[in-house]
Amino acid sequence: MERTLSIIKPDAVAKNVIGEIYSRFEHAGLKIVAARMKHLSREEAEGFYSVHRERPFFADLVEFMTSGPVMIQVLEGQDAITRNRELMGATDPRQAAPGTIRAEFASSIDANAVHGSDAPETAKQEIAFFFGADEIYSR
Ligand code: CMP
Repeated sequence: MERTLSIIKPDAVAKNVIGEIYSRFEHAGLKIVAARMKHLSREEAEGFYSVHRERPFFADLVEFMTSGPVMIQVLEGQDAITRNRELMGATDPRQAAPGTIRAEFASSIDANAVHGSDAPETAKQEIAFFFGADEIYSR
């Protein structure tokens, strides 16, 4: 069993597709074991994406991620990190495979509907950024 952090970004929350995206997780065998809706502060968005601090897109990324509420969840299942990344599709929706979340719901590389952890170490850090151990309801 593995866990990954998933964020439904402000564009997808505004489009009212939280449920459609949750269905995809569930049909792929990923269980939602923690969840919270939150409007991130600038400090939270900068802290969460601190690895990208030096990248040219950082300011736009923080601006976008604080533009409205997000839905944050921990997904649990076999190969959860890879499975979630397959469901999401490529970061740039123009490159995302047909049928993936980003192909269906994203409109640009910033407004790309979802975030998912990319590796076991980052998944641990990202989960701990938003959830305490007592807020994760696993069997
Ligand atoms: P996400 O998986 O949330 O991680 C960082 C985000 O930065 C990424 O999704 C994109 O929404 C955004 N971003 C904007 N420009 C780029 C870029 N050139 N490369 C990677 N990520 C980008």
